[in-house]
Amino acid sequence: MREFPDLRDTVARLLSPRMRNRLQRRPPTIRDVARQAGVSVATVSRILNRREDVAPATRERVLRVIREQGYTRNRTASALSAGRSGLVGVTLPKIQSSYFAQLADAIVDALYEHDLRAVFCPTRHERELELSLLERLMHGMTEGAVLILPSESSAELLAVQGQGYPLVVLDPKTPVGPGIPSVSAANITGAAAATRHLLGLGHRRIAAITGPAGWCATDDRLAGLHTALAGAGIEPDAALVAEGDFEVAGGRNAAARLLALPDRPTAIFAFNDNLAVGAFQAARELGLELPGDLSVVGFDDSEEAPLVTPALTTVRQPLGEMARMAVSLLTRLLAGRPVEALRVELATTLVVRESTAPPPARRRPAAGGDARRRRGRTQTALVLPR
Ligand code: HPA
Repeated sequence: MREFPDLRDTVARLLSPRMRNRLQRRPPTIRDVARQAGVSVATVSRILNRREDVAPATRERVLRVIREQGYTRNRTASALSAGRSGLVGVTLPKIQSSYFAQLADAIVDALYEHDLRAVFCPTRHERELELSLLERLMHGMTEGAVLILPSESSAELLAVQGQGYPLVVLDPKTPVGPGIPSVSAANITGAAAATRHLLGLGHRRIAAITGPAGWCATDDRLAGLHTALAGAGIEPDAALVAEGDFEVAGGRNAAARLLALPDRPTAIFAFNDNLAVGAFQAARELGLELPGDLSVVGFDDSEEAPLVTPALTTVRQPLGEMARMAVSLLTRLLAGRPVEALRVELATTLVVRESTAPPPARRRPAAGGDARRRRGRTQTALVLPR
């Protein structure tokens, strides 16, 4: 049976290209422009990419056709055809936490400066999820990834990198081997500065609430603590170290255990600000005054640090700078340029606020001296609820 041509097509053939596209409700393509200007698609592409190797008269003609047809380039399509999606994967344990939120925010800003956007993949500390997410990122649309606190081993990361997928580790959970670019805060010197601050105030029984065992942040901050204690001639006391999980509740439980010790610490160095807030809670539950009875130092300088009462003395991690550095390393890798500084450690600074003060015996010397005062405190501590 003979088919009748669509009336719209018949009319369209009689019209100018621009009107034809309008009628057919189809935006003009680079092919339409090339056909109309009588040049190849490659020539139009060269002109769109501002290349010099096109005769001025041809450029004029093509630009006139572009204007007439109302052609606009589909940037996503042209980026994709050049092997670029403009997307960068960002894996992180979670977003709802001041520490990770600040890093995420700074990463987004730094990516925008490079005309890149983030695809966030919270892993919820689940190793299986993390591995499959990385796999999916690598085989998906992203050009590379920033991995915050990844659980993957160095070998696993090297395998991903070996397949030509650029990645940068931000705040390594476990030590990353040579060949994988990483960015972290100067944890050892930061922890040493926090400890020296407490020593300088006269504290000798300094407890620590750490992060999870085996994490770089935990090991390095412990190393800084021990270095500073050794500098003051103090042997580390294992009873004064309680493991935390970087969460408020964990800090509260750990501090309750430390404060129930017969000879309880006069200061707690919490390995992050969440743990420090937990220590505040535990101390208040025992009726202790902060910082009169107990000094607390944190680590992070989170947004909450100046807002809690008393305002938290803490070690500032340069989170914005860390994020910018990670993105800068990644963009260099994406551009195919070599990265020389594979392990970047950015300086931390102690921020002294109101949660630290001299230990009680020094602040209010009791008649009979330190020993009697401490004995009295010990008895108090023994009757306190656990
Ligand atoms: N600070 C806060 N939370 C964290 C950190 C840290 O350094 N590392 C992992 N979680």
